[in-house]
Amino acid sequence: MAIDAIENRIDGRAIAEQIHGETRRHIEALSERGTPPGLVFVRLGEDPASRVYVGMKEKTCDRLGIQSTTHVLPEGTSEKELLKLISELNANPTVHGILIQAPLPATINEATIFAAVSPNKDVDGFHPVNVGKLLLGDSGGFVPCTPAAVHELLIRSSVPIQSAEVVILGRGNIVGKPMAAILCQKANHANATVTLCHSRTANLAEHCSRADILIAAIGVAEFVKADMVKPGATVIDVGVNRIADPKAKNGTRLVGDVDFAAVQPVSGLITPNPGGVGPMTIALLMRNTARAAARATGVELESI
Ligand code: GUN
Repeated sequence: MAIDAIENRIDGRAIAEQIHGETRRHIEALSERGTPPGLVFVRLGEDPASRVYVGMKEKTCDRLGIQSTTHVLPEGTSEKELLKLISELNANPTVHGILIQAPLPATINEATIFAAVSPNKDVDGFHPVNVGKLLLGDSGGFVPCTPAAVHELLIRSSVPIQSAEVVILGRGNIVGKPMAAILCQKANHANATVTLCHSRTANLAEHCSRADILIAAIGVAEFVKADMVKPGATVIDVGVNRIADPKAKNGTRLVGDVDFAAVQPVSGLITPNPGGVGPMTIALLMRNTARAAARATGVELESI
């Protein structure tokens, strides 16, 4: 188990490496059968965070043997032009996964774009068909990488999920809503009682303090404080927030949604940030891509 022996940190990097090991074996088997998985990234404009995220994903593809290509389009690209590119990628048999890096410029409707990606190549799990499959408990779709990453962290850290009180902070389409759908499912490693809190929730701290598992995806720097956490609760920090810090190299630094220094002495297992959910999200993207390639070629990954 990748839990720090002295502290209560969940080592997301170590667990991500376990998953990479499993995915690499699948990629090798697919490559030997003449179908190396192919993943295409599409990025619009030069948002610094998106550049960094796509860069990290590209490097991991290289490391695992996934063939990746990145299309960098100008900020002013029209929805029509982007839809044309997606249509070409949908038709290209060497492309098994398509990832349109969000956020997109305000002139482009994100929902239209995510719905244009073939559901079979939607390794992000954002297409309405895959969202629907997740809600219905159909395991044949793609599950969004970040909530799937949190789920794997809980499972591989032996955190009891069944009958647990789970509180999720944040109701976004990328993390909060799919996270709730995963954990309340009637299934193994699920069956939790889920409360989804958001900006209009009354008595938010009270909800948090009941949680056996508290998942923060609210996008507010160091929002979760020690007095909101039940002693011994598992705390998962999904947030990535840039804050001013005159002592830091370029005057800013990244922090999560959890005040780690204050919460760690009170909590049970807790994810550090960085080094918790982030590396796991990339691991789940690689796994989804291997699955997409396997499904496209009719190979059962479980039998590899
Ligand atoms: N931007 C932030 N997270 C994500 C993600 O999981 N997928 C995509 N496509 N864009 C993102």
